[in-house]
Amino acid sequence: MNTSNKIQARVSVIGLGNMGYKLAELLLQKGYEVTVWNRSAHKAGALVAEGAVLAETVAEAIAASPVTVICVYDYNATKAILRHDDVAAAVHGKTLIELTTGSPEQADEAESWARRNKATYLDGAIQAAPEQMGRKDTPIFISGNEEVFRKHGDLLQVFGGGVSYLGSHAGAASAMDLATLSYLYGSIIGFFHGARIVESEGMDVGVYGKLTADITPTFGEFLEHEGKVIRSGNFEISQSPLRISVEAVERILKQAKGSGINTELPELASGLLQKAKAAGYENEELAALIKVMRKSA
Ligand SMILES: NC(=O)c1ccc[n+]([C@@H]2O[C@H](COP(=O)([O-])OP(=O)(O)OC[C@H]3O[C@@H](n4cnc5c(N)ncnc54)[C@H](OP(=O)(O)O)[C@@H]3O)[C@@H](O)[C@H]2O)c1
Repeated sequence: MNTSNKIQARVSVIGLGNMGYKLAELLLQKGYEVTVWNRSAHKAGALVAEGAVLAETVAEAIAASPVTVICVYDYNATKAILRHDDVAAAVHGKTLIELTTGSPEQADEAESWARRNKATYLDGAIQAAPEQMGRKDTPIFISGNEEVFRKHGDLLQVFGGGVSYLGSHAGAASAMDLATLSYLYGSIIGFFHGARIVESEGMDVGVYGKLTADITPTFGEFLEHEGKVIRSGNFEISQSPLRISVEAVERILKQAKGSGINTELPELASGLLQKAKAAGYENEELAALIKVMRKSA
């Protein structure tokens, strides 16, 4: 951080929900001069006690710093906050860093609005919970103008050491967020199906949760490999033949039917893997499943 330059060390934070509050707190802890604004002003109380300045209006918050970080519920909230004449005037010459979660289209639209009002813009997608922010590996996706990204690299590092810059297309961070969330929700639903298996077998779901956490890093490494296989287009078996997964999923489906638990997840997985088998991908790497998924349902 360039603390010799006071202007560079000033940051405004709009939105003091669970995430925005944490971002403001981390900035204060790192010695930034922080101005905050929140629809419900009372949430700023403890931050003000720690040295933050509470702005009375959004325009005042933006005017106070060269950079404003926005982290509110969704882009509709951002619109409700920013789309006022006094705010549009206040953003001239400023940088907006939007860390609210949204779609690629919403990010592109927000960047266009910023550009029309002569502000520079970065869009981000936080991949962690508030308590996990500020760690050396906290993952955050950022996209937008590269020069602007480089200029504010130190600031972004305050929020997490695992910042990944995904290119100049503003919507890229949100697009990648949709992809990682897809992975997450597939896993989450899989986790709950697994919990039903454990329950139906009269075992301890707490132990299952711990074991799932234990296997996750190894599993992540495997997925990284499968990503590289898809990129290469070479589906020769390198780690895991697709046929193993066909058999595994049929076992999961059989157990679900036999024990009377919900079968929706294994039916979905079985449907996709059986299509891959029928297409002749059984003796290819598991990643060949992507060839089935490239076709619309
Ligand atoms: N929490 C997480 O684990 C997590 C993880 C990754 C990403 N994120 C993303 O971070 C963003 C913020 O999440 P959060 O957990 O801080 O949410 P939150 O605790 O529900 O806070 C929502 C914030 O948005 C403000 N807000 C909502 N509607 C508004 C409106 N119409 N006008 C003005 N302000 C409005 C709220 O103001 P009031 O205080 O006045 O209600 C509050 O500051 C979301 O986009 C979320 O997806 C969160």
